[in-house]
Amino acid sequence: MSDHSKYLLADSQIPNVWVNILPSLKEPMAPPLNPQTRAPLAPEDLAPIFPMELIEQEFSPKPEIDIPGEVMDIYRLWRATPLFRAKRLEAALDTPAHIYYKYEGTSPAGSHKPNTAVAQAYYNKRAGIKRLATETGAGQWGSALSLACHLFGLECTVYMVRVSYDQKPYRRMMMHVWGAEVFPSPSDHTNAGRGVLAATPDSPGSLGIAISEAVEDAATHSDTNYALGSVLNHVMLHQTVIGQEAKIQMQMAGEDPDVVIGCFGGGSNFAGLALPYVLDNYSRKGPRILAVEPSACPSLTRGRFAYDFGDTAKLTPLLKMYTLGHDFVPPGIHAGGLRYHGASPLMSHLLQHGEIEAKSYTQTPCFDAAVQFARTEGILPAPESSHAIRAAVDEALEAREEGRQRNILFCLSGHGHFDLASYESYLQGKLQDYEYPGQDIEKAMAAI
Ligand SMILES: Cc1ncc(COP(=O)(O)O)c(C=O)c1O
Repeated sequence: MSDHSKYLLADSQIPNVWVNILPSLKEPMAPPLNPQTRAPLAPEDLAPIFPMELIEQEFSPKPEIDIPGEVMDIYRLWRATPLFRAKRLEAALDTPAHIYYKYEGTSPAGSHKPNTAVAQAYYNKRAGIKRLATETGAGQWGSALSLACHLFGLECTVYMVRVSYDQKPYRRMMMHVWGAEVFPSPSDHTNAGRGVLAATPDSPGSLGIAISEAVEDAATHSDTNYALGSVLNHVMLHQTVIGQEAKIQMQMAGEDPDVVIGCFGGGSNFAGLALPYVLDNYSRKGPRILAVEPSACPSLTRGRFAYDFGDTAKLTPLLKMYTLGHDFVPPGIHAGGLRYHGASPLMSHLLQHGEIEAKSYTQTPCFDAAVQFARTEGILPAPESSHAIRAAVDEALEAREEGRQRNILFCLSGHGHFDLASYESYLQGKLQDYEYPGQDIEKAMAAI
């Protein structure tokens, strides 16, 4: 067994392609629909808010897409990210399992989000766009896009979910440093925001509402496009650098994972780590692949696989996905980036076909695991990532019960340096757990 606990790659080993699973799927995905005509979406339907090169990637039949040189130059600022073996956590759990984690928190914004933000800013710049509008939950995506826009000379407007805007002022300041303007959502800058404020003046906001605001902003300004931090195929695609690197690093460790785990909001960090392994599973039996979501917003485990809008104001195309209903406003859990009513249609398709699994946890057991992780491995995880840690710990405890070795690989999608107030609530015993909010979901489901 290797003595190493850290597996690093040279710049020359950073992947220079994104891997695209679309042409390999056993069955094609249900197409997105035009909300007016209910006909499958034509690429031109997306042209008012996305540049054509990203629209092509959304539907691309190519198994690999070259990463442009300008994007590679920026990736080299922090990629390749390290893979660690969590030996101290293993010892604390007294488990025969080997726990590996791919740490995406070494990016300038502190998460995996810049992997797609840089690509999206690049293609928009090439298309002559001046400004990008977007939503952000916890602020990780907003800060990633603020940085990416600044690096390519674009302006950036971020609609930040109200509850996170209040809980995470330092994320907002970080976005300001990178030159973005930031509004709490729902805001009075858009019709969508004003509508929500009229009905619910103290709305905590949600990703669905913030997406409506950003899409409306982009659709009503010809020099402005929209950028989405998760959910869509091209975002999943850009994140595949994570899994490609992890596969090389696991080879360096001389082990194959038995289970691959990621937390799940819209699906992008999970997809990034998992998709290269899903592709492998088509030719040989590989790992189980497990998505982990909050019980307060359980789209994969309690949602319906149906056509629904990606946003609250019904401005987006209809996507076939696991959804809790576009009207569902999740409780204000600390993992703000996991408060999304829907899920990536691609990852939903894989779940529907039994190629991946999903489970959910309330936030206290996730913080238990995150604190144990911080006290053994040292890194203070983002509350979102704590869901993946909880599942990894439970896999390791199961291996202990069975007295059998198991190789566990999870994505530590970000650090929690701007989430310290959440840790303080946890340490003071003030965290509230929200079980499946059945009635609210039933009501929102009725609107699908
Ligand atoms: C650190 C971190 N992990 C995970 C997520 C969830 O998003 P996704 O499911 O697209 O990876 C977010 C979203 O903001 C995040 O900030």
